[in-house]
Amino acid sequence: MTEGKKLQGKVVVITGGTEGIGLATAELFVKEGAYVFITGRRQQQLDEAVKAIGGNVSGVQGDVAKLADLDRLYETVAKTQKRIDIVFANAGVGEFVPLGDVTEEHFDKLFNINVRGTLFTVQKALPLLNDGGSIILNGSVASVKGLPPSASTPQVRLPSALSCEPGPRI
Ligand SMILES: NC(=O)c1ccc[n+]([C@@H]2O[C@H](COP(=O)([O-])OP(=O)(O)OC[C@H]3O[C@@H](n4cnc5c(N)ncnc54)[C@H](OP(=O)(O)O)[C@@H]3O)[C@@H](O)[C@H]2O)c1
Repeated sequence: MTEGKKLQGKVVVITGGTEGIGLATAELFVKEGAYVFITGRRQQQLDEAVKAIGGNVSGVQGDVAKLADLDRLYETVAKTQKRIDIVFANAGVGEFVPLGDVTEEHFDKLFNINVRGTLFTVQKALPLLNDGGSIILNGSVASVKGLPPSASTPQVRLPSALSCEPGPRI
């Protein structure tokens, strides 16, 4: 029964789709008729998520902070489904610490995943993205609320920067 399904025939990439918002989105999108690729760093959680979703889904293990992993993700998409209609750059981590406790390692970890990972997830999807496709970024209200420092602020600001570039195609 495909009647009334909003995403029938659409191909979707969701980074960080093994739990939380990413998994819930993947489940909903598959119910709406899409074929979904989900990612995550932990293979076991990825396998469990693929099993839970049940069909029309592929899991591609990878870390959005590693460009080689993103290349492998999109090579897999290109080989099997050819094009992308929706990319949901959802993978991210929130680790709040007081300003005085921020270390170089903490800074690099959060920015590598939340900022670098989000930007390259989108950049590397562009060659496969169909005209009229959608790019969805998961950010946070942390940039406008008085919360302790985290890399959510640039994650929230990226949308305005990224939306300038692809132009009317998307
Ligand atoms: N939940 C909230 O209240 C809230 C509020 C503001 C913003 N957000 C943002 O919304 C997004 C999803 O949040 P959530 O609460 O659903 O998170 P979650 O339940 O912790 O799930 C995060 C997902 O992202 C994956 N992930 C994390 N780091 C990754 C990496 N480097 N590469 C690839 N996958 C990675 C995780 O799998 P692995 O660990 O196996 O990689 C997991 O599948 C995040 O970007 C978060 O910052 C959430």
